[in-house]
Amino acid sequence: MNLQAIAESAAIAGKEIDLTGCDYGPHRLSGLYLKVQPYYHFLAGFVRTLGVRKILEIGTSYGGSIMAMDRGLRGKEPGTQLVTVDKVDIAGEAVGALAHIKRIHGDSLSADTLRKVRQHLDAPIDLFYLDSKHSYDHTQKNVAIYGGEFRPKYIILDDIRLNDEMARYWTEAQARFGQFAFDASAAANRPDGFGLLDFAGYSSSRGGEKQSLPPELTAARPKP
Ligand SMILES: C[S@@+](CC[C@H](N)C(=O)[O-])C[C@H]1O[C@@H](n2cnc3c(N)ncnc32)[C@H](O)[C@@H]1O
Repeated sequence: MNLQAIAESAAIAGKEIDLTGCDYGPHRLSGLYLKVQPYYHFLAGFVRTLGVRKILEIGTSYGGSIMAMDRGLRGKEPGTQLVTVDKVDIAGEAVGALAHIKRIHGDSLSADTLRKVRQHLDAPIDLFYLDSKHSYDHTQKNVAIYGGEFRPKYIILDDIRLNDEMARYWTEAQARFGQFAFDASAAANRPDGFGLLDFAGYSSSRGGEKQSLPPELTAARPKP
């Protein structure tokens, strides 16, 4: 299945998944309490459609998106690993009650946080969902560190249309990944943008494990 077909299937599957209680929580800028976000259905559908088992999220916030992805799992089969990271501990009670979701508090770019993530997650993982600080550098470094370390099959980048820096990052990612990058904003019902990267497909197109990672994930890989 190509990425467009995957995104469309995820959107369809996600509509059928009950996300009651997967609230976004208090919105930082407006202060409003936000309920389930439309793109949560896409995330849940993506997990369901592709049989995703191992997930890393950077940007827990209140916990809505990681709970949505958890709902997409077909069950708690052995091998399921869900890890979410945030520099602040503002998660709500609902996600706190889900003990199988490992929450890590710390700056994702710090060595200590990476060490903690390693304790709960084994490479390769299925999905890396990045939704934290929406700047070029932050995105580049997180993709470099966690993409290099955990070799996700897929990466979903939130907010690729939010600002100029994110748009620049996405333009460069599309140029590098070619057919293995897809703007899933429409399928995900996410006007601020959802970028989907088929990391495994890109890697194998370049001849396998050793040559698999883009240069920014090897030579220029930053040390946290
Ligand atoms: C937009 S919110 C995430 C929303 C959440 N994924 C959802 O949809 O329910 C972004 C989060 O990223 C966190 N964040 C920002 N910079 C970070 C960093 N360097 N390390 C870890 N978390 C960070 C913020 O604290 C904030 O809670």
